[in-house]
Amino acid sequence: MTYESALAKLRGCGQEHVLRYYEELNDAEKADLLTQIEETDFSVIENFYHPENLSGKGEIAPIEGLDLAAIEEKKAEYIAVGKETIKAGKVGAILLAGGQGTRLGSDHPKGTYNIGVTRELYIFECLVNNLLDVVKECGTVVPLYIMTSDKNHAETVAFFEEHNFFGYDSSFVKFFKQDMAPAVDQSGKVLLEAKGRIALSPNGNGGWFSSLVRAGLLEDVHARGVEWLNVFAVDNVCQRIADPAFVGASVLAKTDCGSKAVSKAEPHEKVGVLCLEEGHPSIVEYYELSEEMAQAREADGTLKYRYGVILNYLFSLDALERILSQKIPVHVVRKKVPYIDENGTLVKPETENGCKFETLVLDMIKLMNSCLPYEVVREYEFAPVKNKTGVDSVESARELLKKNGVEL
Ligand code: UTP
Repeated sequence: MTYESALAKLRGCGQEHVLRYYEELNDAEKADLLTQIEETDFSVIENFYHPENLSGKGEIAPIEGLDLAAIEEKKAEYIAVGKETIKAGKVGAILLAGGQGTRLGSDHPKGTYNIGVTRELYIFECLVNNLLDVVKECGTVVPLYIMTSDKNHAETVAFFEEHNFFGYDSSFVKFFKQDMAPAVDQSGKVLLEAKGRIALSPNGNGGWFSSLVRAGLLEDVHARGVEWLNVFAVDNVCQRIADPAFVGASVLAKTDCGSKAVSKAEPHEKVGVLCLEEGHPSIVEYYELSEEMAQAREADGTLKYRYGVILNYLFSLDALERILSQKIPVHVVRKKVPYIDENGTLVKPETENGCKFETLVLDMIKLMNSCLPYEVVREYEFAPVKNKTGVDSVESARELLKKNGVEL
């Protein structure tokens, strides 16, 4: 892209200041910046000025799901069907590892975090070990697709290679990069992270399927005969992946999507819950539930809105392909974004100074015709590593790993 066409593109969206330091750059930096401008989709900034109404929920009702007791009753059948499906090569796994893990405060990909105490045990390793349990049980390798971002791709790939993929068959592992979005300041102007670089950040986990398709991996998915994709977060070190019982229950229910869930501990627990919205599956955030709904109980005393999501979904490939061209809402999220000020000095803000644009996988649920909540035991399957200490932290995850018999 030439300087003139870059300027014209920026003018079109009121962001000419991105070229403010152009004359101070060397040739390589100039070329780099022009490429960045060419590749960046600035239209997303529209959401800063005209945010979508994301809290305007339609009529909400409880959703039918499988609780622990219902699962127990049919467990043998679910496992048998799930194993058959996995053995037939119909299940693939998608590891969402494109996030920046800012709350954990490490500069490295979250999966490379060593959660071990007396030995090295990396977050990626925990997840691979969990998946290997199923691979051993079924005698079939589950294809694993790992989503990274520009920020952590090279380091993530190198880490897996250095550690020999933690014993996973590397011919079944593929990496793909998610898209990036520009970050803006409080007045909607694009931030620069250096004189010749726009502050770009991963655009949320909601674009994982379109990024997989753009990376040309849908052909690989089809070629391997995969019909279900189990999407999971990098930070839940205890979760079971390609879990036969969960797969079997979803297959038998002929659902578009299954969602692992934990029973909400109390009415106001800060977790999104599965529900029906205007008859469609949907996830309602804890602050969007009215007091009456949050407290509502079934005759047996369980909460009506109880299925808290843990970011572990099993999507049918047919459903994903059907919704591929549909729009997922963009969330404008306030975050700390390092930037250079008018004097060209790098500032690392202590408080939120800017906004990022993200789509979320939970918004894909609304596009599904059906979703099956599938309850799992919190103590076995929900140990997210979000923070260094306290709630959902390295400490709390270590406790649960120990409870589950993992040597640390
Ligand atoms: P989080 O919402 O916890 O975000 O991601 P994060 O970026 O990892 O952490 P914070 O908020 O900065 O502390 C939930 C899951 O979605 C993935 C993450 O890697 C994690 O597995 N994710 C998130 C992406 O793959 N891409 C993104 O752009 C954002």
